[in-house]
Amino acid sequence: MGPATRFKNWAHRIVPRPVMNGGWNLASDLKDLPMRLKAPGAPRPWRVWHNVGGGDFHQIGQQYFEWFREGAHLTPSAHVLDMGCGAGRLAFPLAQYLGSKGGYTGFDLSERALGFARRHVRGPARFTFIKADVQSREYGGAGSKASGYRFPVEDDSIDAALAISLFSHLLPEDAAAYLKEAGRVLKPGGRLCLTGFLVDPRMSLDDAVLSLKPFRDGAWAADPREPERAIGYEQSAFEAWLDRAGLYFAEPVEAGHWSGPTRVGEFQDRIIVEKPVV
Ligand SMILES: C[S@@+](CC[C@H](N)C(=O)[O-])C[C@H]1O[C@@H](n2cnc3c(N)ncnc32)[C@H](O)[C@@H]1O
Repeated sequence: MGPATRFKNWAHRIVPRPVMNGGWNLASDLKDLPMRLKAPGAPRPWRVWHNVGGGDFHQIGQQYFEWFREGAHLTPSAHVLDMGCGAGRLAFPLAQYLGSKGGYTGFDLSERALGFARRHVRGPARFTFIKADVQSREYGGAGSKASGYRFPVEDDSIDAALAISLFSHLLPEDAAAYLKEAGRVLKPGGRLCLTGFLVDPRMSLDDAVLSLKPFRDGAWAADPREPERAIGYEQSAFEAWLDRAGLYFAEPVEAGHWSGPTRVGEFQDRIIVEKPVV
């Protein structure tokens, strides 16, 4: 664990959550300022205002898009669902890719993030960004429980769904319910590409970049007092939720480097699941 992560973990213990998030996001925006000035063309959300992840918004969006295109067998006429779409990091490359027969629905609890996406994402396909009125201690959502949220699309209507860095902030009952909803809305043969932290309880997390501790119901959390900050699930629990949702692992899980310094690749695990054709 590097000194910056150690400092962040220590600060998380003593500084109130909203202050900590705001300060960290502001510091990241200032750090990214040179990169922002070098590439003024494409609109970029501010972390402190739109609450998006760090790094180059469009470059990272493009990388995830390429993984999604391949992993979900995407075509330009696909109907895509983006769960926890944020400011549209994936919607930007999808707007270049999807044709007039394609469609995109993104939902998120952050009106500010959705506002940015609505203002800037343009493409031949129809793009819809919908506010989910659900609770989240991490993201400040204040509506009903996320476990009761019905996705804003019809049964069997989605060719490909994605959830980037969403499940890492969902309580176990919400994760199970979101998988169930994904199972409802995917067409048979449709795929969901998601990122998150899958925990093998036998693995040693002593040297992990993200140190998770047992929380409850097969879930592990970086800070069990603030579980939605970073949460992982035991693979067996995740598999049971998939089973109940009528989904299955379509590809081997690509392990991220959160769990050990020797792992390469993305930080979070990359997971591809599918709704079978019956
Ligand atoms: C780390 S951000 C990732 C955003 C986006 N997927 C991306 O890759 O840029 C997590 C997002 O999930 C949203 N979120 C958190 N809990 C949610 C929930 N229960 N339902 C819908 N969105 C949620 C947050 O508002 C935030 O925009």
